[in-house]
Amino acid sequence: MPDAYILGIESSCDETAAAVVRSGEQLISNVVASQIATHQPYGGVVPELASREHLRAIVPVVRQALADAKHTYDSVDAIAVTQGPGLAGALLVGIVYAKALAFALGKPLIAVNHLEGHIHAVLLEERQKGNHELQFPVLALVVSGGHTHLYLASQNGDAWSYENIGHTRDDAAGEAFDKVAKLLGLGYPGGPVIDRLAPHGDPHSVKFPPAQIKHRDRRGRADGRTVKPDDDRPRFDFSYSGIKTAVLRYVESHQMQAAVEARRKALANISKPKLDDYLLHCDKLTLDLVASFQRAMIEDLVGKTLAAAEAYDIATLFVTGGVAANQELRRTFEREGAKQGLPVFFPSRPLSTDNAAMIAAAAYPKFLARDFAPMDFSAEAGMALK
Ligand code: KG4
Ligand code: ZN
Repeated sequence: MPDAYILGIESSCDETAAAVVRSGEQLISNVVASQIATHQPYGGVVPELASREHLRAIVPVVRQALADAKHTYDSVDAIAVTQGPGLAGALLVGIVYAKALAFALGKPLIAVNHLEGHIHAVLLEERQKGNHELQFPVLALVVSGGHTHLYLASQNGDAWSYENIGHTRDDAAGEAFDKVAKLLGLGYPGGPVIDRLAPHGDPHSVKFPPAQIKHRDRRGRADGRTVKPDDDRPRFDFSYSGIKTAVLRYVESHQMQAAVEARRKALANISKPKLDDYLLHCDKLTLDLVASFQRAMIEDLVGKTLAAAEAYDIATLFVTGGVAANQELRRTFEREGAKQGLPVFFPSRPLSTDNAAMIAAAAYPKFLARDFAPMDFSAEAGMALK
């Protein structure tokens, strides 16, 4: 197979990223410009600000990725860019720039689904370690700020295809981490803070009822198709808005609001709070709540995913997306997966969260298949993975 150096560009949410990857198996450079500081005061991503920051960052970030890779605009073989899902205005910045580069340089343009990118982050790093053997069937849990999706992934020649067998009915898991952190005055993004604080609390102190999913999904499936009555393939859906509300009720019933407000103000005055700063401003009640919340989230994610793995007789499990950076989640998946004899693969923590290396890696099979995007393709905010 011919070697190909692919320049990947990612701008679907709040990171502007560019990377060069060789043949889907070697990371040559990886640059991520985070917008956390911009969105932090608002406690979440503000779409208009995200687009503006992408516009500012895109040219220097791509230039840096090429320089780090010792490549020039001319020496890469193709340009790959995230088409969706994501924020439409944010996606457009990457797409317009990728199109301009591809047109000016006469290079092929490849459109990549962001969720497929997260799955290929795992493949990229496994190949980089020399692991080219993959046992099918493969199940992938993509768990991030926008998604909690389970996909059966299969490979036919070079082409990959995906079947969705589960998704969140309401909030994504990362969204629940972010909202709970926000309502506890811990800032944004919440996942990494909760990850670091949870070991300091008692994970058994607060009991959360398990998520109830009583009805069939009438809204339609994550892949855009409506569930047919005769569609009896087992599904493993998630729901995380209930636990967020339960945390809110706990805060109210334990009169924690004043402490939350004081913490929010204190942490807002520290430019980059460290673990000790958080600990200094968290009482035992808060730490126990954080630890119990994380435990409940992990139990649900791991429990449903492993049940799906059993139902579909899965040989290999991938866990990827921002929440896959969570240390306790990784440990629990590894431990519980091992009990079922199921190997579990994660990306390294830097490649768990949004990056462009995963986009360049996912583009390689499309490059081999000459599956190039027309110049008039556009952003697809709600793009499904198939
Ligand atoms: O994949 P990602 O960078 O962007 C999306 O595609 O959404 O995921 C970001 C999400 C945020 O919700 C963030 O709080 C969560 O991933 N996250 C974590 C951790 N690191 C990031 N959640 C739990 N533990 C972490 N260590
Ligand atoms: Zn993502």
